[in-house]
Amino acid sequence: MNINYCEELRAFKIDTENNSYIIAIVDDEGFPGHVYYGPKIADIPMYMLRINENPYVPSKNNRDRGSFMDTFPTEYPGNGLGDYREGAVEVVDSEGHFAVCPVYKSYKIVEGKPALKGLPATFESSRGKAMTLELTLEDKPVGLEFILRYSVFEDSDAIIRSTEVINASDKSVFIKKAMSFAMDLDGEDYELLTLHGSWARERQMDIRPIGYGKTSVGSVKGESSHQEHPFMALVQKGADQKQGRVYGFNFVYSGNFLAQVEKTQFDSVRVLMGINPNGFKWELKAGESLQMPEVVSVYSNDGIGKMSRTFHDVYRNHLIRSPYKDKKRPILINNWEATYFQFDTDKLIAIAKEAKKAGIEMLVMDDGWFGHRDDDNSSLGDWYVNENKLKGGLKYLVDEVNKIGLKFGIWFEPEMISPDSDLYRAHPDWAIAIQGRTPVRSRNQYVLDLSRQEVVDYVFDVVSKVLHSANIEYVKWDMNRQITDLGSYALGKENQGELYHRYVLAVYQLQERLIKVFPNLLLENCSGGGARFDPGMLYYGPQIWCSDDTDAIERLGIQEGTSLVYPLSSMGAHVSDCPNHTVGRNTPFATRGNVALAGTFGYELDITKIPQEDRDSIPKQVEMYHKYNPLVRTGDYYRIASYRENHFYDCYGVVSKDKSEALFTFVQVMGRPNYHSRIIRLDGLDPEKRYAIEGEEGSYAGDTLMKAGLQIQNLWGDYQSKLIHLTEC
Ligand code: DGJ
Repeated sequence: MNINYCEELRAFKIDTENNSYIIAIVDDEGFPGHVYYGPKIADIPMYMLRINENPYVPSKNNRDRGSFMDTFPTEYPGNGLGDYREGAVEVVDSEGHFAVCPVYKSYKIVEGKPALKGLPATFESSRGKAMTLELTLEDKPVGLEFILRYSVFEDSDAIIRSTEVINASDKSVFIKKAMSFAMDLDGEDYELLTLHGSWARERQMDIRPIGYGKTSVGSVKGESSHQEHPFMALVQKGADQKQGRVYGFNFVYSGNFLAQVEKTQFDSVRVLMGINPNGFKWELKAGESLQMPEVVSVYSNDGIGKMSRTFHDVYRNHLIRSPYKDKKRPILINNWEATYFQFDTDKLIAIAKEAKKAGIEMLVMDDGWFGHRDDDNSSLGDWYVNENKLKGGLKYLVDEVNKIGLKFGIWFEPEMISPDSDLYRAHPDWAIAIQGRTPVRSRNQYVLDLSRQEVVDYVFDVVSKVLHSANIEYVKWDMNRQITDLGSYALGKENQGELYHRYVLAVYQLQERLIKVFPNLLLENCSGGGARFDPGMLYYGPQIWCSDDTDAIERLGIQEGTSLVYPLSSMGAHVSDCPNHTVGRNTPFATRGNVALAGTFGYELDITKIPQEDRDSIPKQVEMYHKYNPLVRTGDYYRIASYRENHFYDCYGVVSKDKSEALFTFVQVMGRPNYHSRIIRLDGLDPEKRYAIEGEEGSYAGDTLMKAGLQIQNLWGDYQSKLIHLTEC
């Protein structure tokens, strides 16, 4: 890791172990040019900027300034001054003008990585020191400064970028857009890899050619969303898991985002990532600053697999803070699919007793324990116990569960308010709504206006009170609807465009306060399944519920897409009952377990009612979790085969960092005639080491298992699966 400034070339060179990123300041006006991003190089190839190719340099030929502006590969493009590609920043200045063009002012190279106030961010840790370049750009006529920050860690190839906007003038400026990341790349034949989805079908991989013009994914739902994901990768055509050039970008934010590529007339590609300008307008008063969230950028010269592993490591080593991050999480049983809203103390205790016998370690009480909530039509905001259901109260229940030998966890949806709630009756203006319009209900609920500090304080107090009232060791923090009716009773008419971002900042503030007051709390985020599975939330809790779809086969795609960016240790995955409640599919209990073992692992079923045979299999699954989870949590992830591509089988694995142990999961999604065995080529092993396969005689060299492959034999029928555990011998 290193960051250098070359005085002679006015260039900054940022090096990670394997990659280089180069910026140069050009011409008398100080245009910040993007020179290079890719595998590590020794030189600073200034020719990438084409600054010697007259007439494209303003100081040499201002007659063609427009040509320069529209072609120069810039590090942070402005707006309205000749660069017709989409800019990273849009403003309305005190005179009502839109034009802005950030040029070089100064720089600093600092040890470490400054925290981003109020925002989740990667940080220096004992696993790797950091270095940061702070490049300050300015637009004098508007009076704005832009600090572009670039940080690197000594143990990672990721480059972390963010933008801070400062109003150095004496008048308010409205920021309509300030992207966190912008970059112009030379035009190669890249394809765009993104993650799309829907409720119960989150983060499915999608790859498409990049055509001319703009291609984007984004969210305006107030959360990162089920539908599109704050991630995109530019993938060299023909690249696969093991080879090819790949640029991956992930936004560390949990609200509206825009991730866009623009292929220009000259085949160059402009990448933009940041808060979605749709619905955003921020008044930056004189002297104020606005810190935009950061983007984690990963370049891999060795295909998609290496990109994923780099993301996993940087999140495990530099983003997740929870004390649980390096620990096995308690195996939980959640009552949602077991009972939905129909439960009481006796039912939960019966589940806990049976769960204890099977080796499960924690009971999580899901939605329906508060107010008078017997379905999803009421009580959000009334966070006091429904004593009709929980006779004896919450503390009694928790104590009983603890006596049985299980920890206790609880569900909240703190950001919401039901129209049928005491809270709404007392404070109707606390809901997000536009005066004079009928607000849109979704799941019969509204969203609390968290741009108001008194609302944030109320939520914090009421949630903390419940947590203080009993020995609660886990919280599932849910958010079951998206934001509409962007209107706050408290914000002025010029400031309504701040609501989306202020909302997200308030969610961060709430979770930060919560984990400060309850430092040992295990926090699992959730949003109607996996609509807020993003790196922002991982800063507060080490795991996120992946999806409401717990079907083992659907989970293959969901978990494949999720693991493209996020470590397995962060993926909430449970075994549920069959027929599956979302898709009606019947799969073997063993396969449900094998697939859930790739995540945090737990159960989501009525253990008092499932077939005896299934119940009898739980202790064995529990044993496997204890045996394999340290490897799953800490190892390197390898994708071997994808059911999405081949339609018949799926295979992925985790290899320990020292390559002495590996666990591969094979799922035969569909049996085929005459396919009594299948050869799969493993990956990530040490070619020189010999490995024993658990349950089989003999051993194989790593190179044999990777080159010749391993034979999977005798899986009969659909949805069959097998775990292959290798240990060095
Ligand atoms: C959505 C979550 O994803 C489910 O697991 C469950 O907690 C429900 N909400 C409860 O309303």
